[in-house]
Amino acid sequence: MPTITSFPPDFIWGAATASYQIEGAWDEDGKGESIWDRFSHTPGKVAHGDTGDVACDHYHRWREDVALMKALGLHAYRFSISWPRLLPEGRGRVNAAGLDFYGRLVDVLLEATIEPFVTLYHWDLPQALQDRGGWPVRATAEAFVEYADLITRKLGDRVKHWITLNEPFVSAFVGYLEGRHAPGHSDSFDFAQDKLDEALAAAHHLLLAHGWAVPVIRCNCAGAQVGIVLNLSGQTPASPSAADRAVAWRQDGVINRWFLDPLSARGYPADIVQHYGRPMDFVQAGDLEAIATPLDFLGVNYYTRNVVRSSVVAEAENVPRTVFPNPERTEMGWEVYPDGLYELLGRMHFDCRFPALYVTENGAAYQDQIGPDGQVDDPLRVAYLKEHLAAAARAIAAGVPLRGYFAWSLMDNFEWAYGYSKRFGLVYVDYRTQRRTLKTSAHWYRRVIAANALVD
Ligand code: FCB
Repeated sequence: MPTITSFPPDFIWGAATASYQIEGAWDEDGKGESIWDRFSHTPGKVAHGDTGDVACDHYHRWREDVALMKALGLHAYRFSISWPRLLPEGRGRVNAAGLDFYGRLVDVLLEATIEPFVTLYHWDLPQALQDRGGWPVRATAEAFVEYADLITRKLGDRVKHWITLNEPFVSAFVGYLEGRHAPGHSDSFDFAQDKLDEALAAAHHLLLAHGWAVPVIRCNCAGAQVGIVLNLSGQTPASPSAADRAVAWRQDGVINRWFLDPLSARGYPADIVQHYGRPMDFVQAGDLEAIATPLDFLGVNYYTRNVVRSSVVAEAENVPRTVFPNPERTEMGWEVYPDGLYELLGRMHFDCRFPALYVTENGAAYQDQIGPDGQVDDPLRVAYLKEHLAAAARAIAAGVPLRGYFAWSLMDNFEWAYGYSKRFGLVYVDYRTQRRTLKTSAHWYRRVIAANALVD
């Protein structure tokens, strides 16, 4: 028997995507411009000048894509709503065609007995709101609540799982501080300190938007489960030296605790507030209480860990500093480290006490190609997924309430600043013809779902 590890009977098997990465139709049927439209249309921002103008053309091919999900046997599909498709100016005027698109998608998913897990914000802010300051401005959080109210009124009778934000760390710090993501560096913020202030304010307003939206979603959707998705990764010191351990803990604060602590009613971590040394005057009375509104679940996006090296450890100290000198890496250059998922899930439950967890993204990019037989064989991805699912199963056995797993991604898509050069899909997309081909990993995942267990 090939069966190795079983999952709980009600375990939810899914796959995930995001609106800007798959939909295309960037200016069709009344959709407004998003910050990613603006960013990708700006020369030099995205590899090879790629844009999401067409992407996987999912806006037109969504029925075919739901059929693919059905063929895989998915129990659930995590997708995101394009805010500017609903509210072209960010607030105010509603684009009925946008609402109808998501209404039809949800209906057809439910007909196929696929549970929709809807993310409200996966990075495609309406450009009109960015023009008024974007996430560094508090009014954007108010606009988000109006948007959340609109869509949950429309879909609340049918959608029972809602995710407010995807990876607010990336929205705030990669978008407003590093500038590798939309809205990118802004000419009016030339100095690093100004950009740090922008990013910190953006992070706060994202969390505030989340906290304010949770009760609105619950009010509009009877019995809804509401959560947030964070990009979490362990920060491993490169050596047991005090210097490496201190920097690793600080990195943990910057990436993980800056979001986990306020969501868990612990406020912003004092060591990192001190590290930044900025005024934090954007935090108003009542904000931290709103952000700490209890959640039904936490979504964990896990890909890799960081090995952290302090610049002040003298090599002369002779501390051995490599934790796995030649780790296996994916096409993104990310270390393959399945144990990190086990460690993280344990920490999220036993330390942070989230009542339920989902792996909302996990997967790997590799250089997939269509073979002469028309098949796409991706054994490295199968191995990656299998090892991470084994880690998830170990976490469940240890008592972690992990309710489901979403592979990133259902299909190859627009990988942000990398454009189409990185393929994460279970399904291969030929961008010239829009033909979809199930990779070996998709066939394997179908068998795993059918067996509710890891199979060869
Ligand atoms: C995550 C994003 C997702 C995808 C994967 C590879 O950070 O949420 O959209 O790009 O990385």
